[in-house]
Amino acid sequence: MTEAVRKGVSGEAARHPRTPEPETPVLVVDDLVVEHRDRGTGQVFRAVDHVSLRIDAGQSVAVVGESGSGKTTLAMAATALGPRGGGDIRLLGHSLSEISRTRLRRLRPEVQVVFQDPHGSLDPRQSVRSGLRELRALQPERTSWIGDAELLGSVRLAPELLDRYPHQLSGGQAQRVCIARALLMRPRLIVADEPTSGLDVSVQADVLALLRQIRATTGAALLMISHDLAVVRSLCDVVHVMYRGRVVESGPCEQVFVTPENDYTRELLAAMPGARWRSRR
Ligand SMILES: Nc1ncnc2c1ncn2[C@@H]1O[C@H](COP(=O)(O)OP(=O)(O)O)[C@@H](O)[C@H]1O
Ligand SMILES: [Mg+2]
Repeated sequence: MTEAVRKGVSGEAARHPRTPEPETPVLVVDDLVVEHRDRGTGQVFRAVDHVSLRIDAGQSVAVVGESGSGKTTLAMAATALGPRGGGDIRLLGHSLSEISRTRLRRLRPEVQVVFQDPHGSLDPRQSVRSGLRELRALQPERTSWIGDAELLGSVRLAPELLDRYPHQLSGGQAQRVCIARALLMRPRLIVADEPTSGLDVSVQADVLALLRQIRATTGAALLMISHDLAVVRSLCDVVHVMYRGRVVESGPCEQVFVTPENDYTRELLAAMPGARWRSRR
């Protein structure tokens, strides 16, 4: 092929780009049912009752609902960290009911969870540095893109904190360390389960701003579990309202919060922090 022909070919290709494949959603939850046994009565009940939702690449989706409505159970099942009963879950295109253990292990780092209690998620016997070293040993290639000091800088923590132990960190600092540990893996999905509700009000806004920045700069999708409407409003595109294990209303945040259709959603909104949210326009 001559140079001119080659150019012609590539020119043709440039004029007629192939329609891009639609990107695989990071998470599809289809008709999920999860049962727990009540610790008091011993009876089995549905903590998650036929729930479906979908998170596209880079999208931020919120699940809101009162305490006990099944949000954490849903998040744990959806990320293959907790029990799962009926229905199907597709994580990055792989059905959890069909996936092999080896592939699931490989998929794990793509999904990172940030929990409500940062001190509970960190090993009290490990300094921040040795905790990161352990993660790096598990995934050497995936984690080599950034050094420890720079990683801490990305969550606005000073490098001196590397030598601290969890009990020497404030709640806000500990949560930033948890977020840094999640970011180290360059996940495609970050699940944040009430990530600011255990923190002082004064640092909640900082951690939210950090999540917003991460959202904008990493392209990771976010599954945000919260009972704070201000949080959801500032971070999410779509919201699902849970009540007693079911999703009772779903839609774009603006629509659900400004013109809720469901009675329970209205009640919940009235009781939630940040509820006096009217239209942004
Ligand atoms: N491991 C478990 N065993 C038994 N019951 C559980 C377990 N985890 C959660 N539950 C119960 O399931 C319901 C939903 O809990 P959860 O998913 O934690 O709700 P949320 O995160 O919305 O507060 C609650 O009634 C809770 O007490
Ligand atoms: Mg919970």
